[in-house]
Amino acid sequence: MSSTSSPLPYDRQAVINLDAIRANVRHLREIAAPARVMAVVKADAYGHGAIPVARAALEAGAGWLGVAHFTEGLALREAGIDAPILAWLHTPDTDFAAGIEAGIDVGISGWELEPVVAAARQLERPARVHLKIDTGLGRNGCPPALWEDLVNRAVEYQELGLLRVVGVFSHLAVADEPHRPETDDQVDRFREAVAVAENAGLDLEVRHLANTPGTLSRPDAHFDMVRVGLGIYGLSPFETQTPEELGLVPAMTLRGRVANCKQVPAGQGVSYGLNYLTTEPTTLVLVPLGYADGIPRSVTGVQVAIGGKRYDLVGRVAMDQFVVDLRTNDAGDLLGEEVILFGPGPGVPDAQDWAVGAGTINYEIVTRVSPRVPRYYTGTADEQDDGGEAAPVAVAEELTASAAEQAAAAAQVRAAALASPDERNTDSAGDAGAVLA
Ligand SMILES: Cc1ncc(COP(=O)(O)O)c(C=O)c1O
Repeated sequence: MSSTSSPLPYDRQAVINLDAIRANVRHLREIAAPARVMAVVKADAYGHGAIPVARAALEAGAGWLGVAHFTEGLALREAGIDAPILAWLHTPDTDFAAGIEAGIDVGISGWELEPVVAAARQLERPARVHLKIDTGLGRNGCPPALWEDLVNRAVEYQELGLLRVVGVFSHLAVADEPHRPETDDQVDRFREAVAVAENAGLDLEVRHLANTPGTLSRPDAHFDMVRVGLGIYGLSPFETQTPEELGLVPAMTLRGRVANCKQVPAGQGVSYGLNYLTTEPTTLVLVPLGYADGIPRSVTGVQVAIGGKRYDLVGRVAMDQFVVDLRTNDAGDLLGEEVILFGPGPGVPDAQDWAVGAGTINYEIVTRVSPRVPRYYTGTADEQDDGGEAAPVAVAEELTASAAEQAAAAAQVRAAALASPDERNTDSAGDAGAVLA
């Protein structure tokens, strides 16, 4: 995306392209088929906005939504979203009754079974549960040695009408490194755990194991459903493959306006610590995003795009701002110009560049963009009328044209990769429309 104007004024903004979300979901559906797709929208949809992203993902054919916490699921229900939702991370303080009453499925690793059953008894309504086996990740999930016991207890409660065991699931540890053999072991252990559950009489609706890297690299891990997060946001889980190579379109563009632009002599120190000194007479540009906006303070060696050119971020990132050295005095006064930190498209740094610069992963770069940064949604024309909160709608032709181009480009990449001319995911990039949230 290389827009230089916005239909609405902004100082800083995360532009979320819902057409890209839809295109990515459709693409992942094709890869996963016949398995279904659960769109993982925890952590405010990895910083993209859980409610608009959930709606876009469902429009594009995702059958389920996945969240970590019941509270995240409850927020989706309050927004009028009635699709199946699974929440998988709880503590003894979790309000299981509220989640069950809202029809949210519960991931159960062991200890949760009794409090969930107690809540179901109190509500006089069976809880829908997915039993989680730890196939090797070592986080939650039932240890294999205790699996048979968990399954048997769940069967008993199901017979008493207190539970409906809908699924069995697990989570992959190293699918982002496709050569690693541990994924084979996890798939094998998962098959064994499913067999134990089925032999105990459970009639499972969904068996699910794969995250985005598993979906993209391990067809044998698809089972009945894949749980995809990163991929629906258009980012690559693999170090050596770009989103474009995977047929994905990054959905988030993070941008700001130049807040100050000044010429300085050689030897000017920049930002706290004065760790950076200009090496020549130059122009410094101030960008009004800092670690309070989710920009990692630790980042070094990254660039931003201004007017189609890339420039280096220099000195320390502060709470509200960082500095860019143009290394020229010929750029003119850039006050108010658009600065793109990352986004899709040629000539623009991407979230992966920032991840490398901050010593982290692209997941974190988008997820940490803080609530102080307003989200601006494009590609909203076919948003469903489900009674969601009315939001101001503005025309964003430039952004939406860019969204259409990206979706078309991604469709071409997919067509080439799949060699399937009648592929049904020819995304309708939609009419101009944008929502400010
Ligand atoms: C249990 C579970 N499933 C699926 C996902 C989605 O993973 P990804 O973003 O790699 O698709 C996550 C995210 O961490 C998760 O915790």
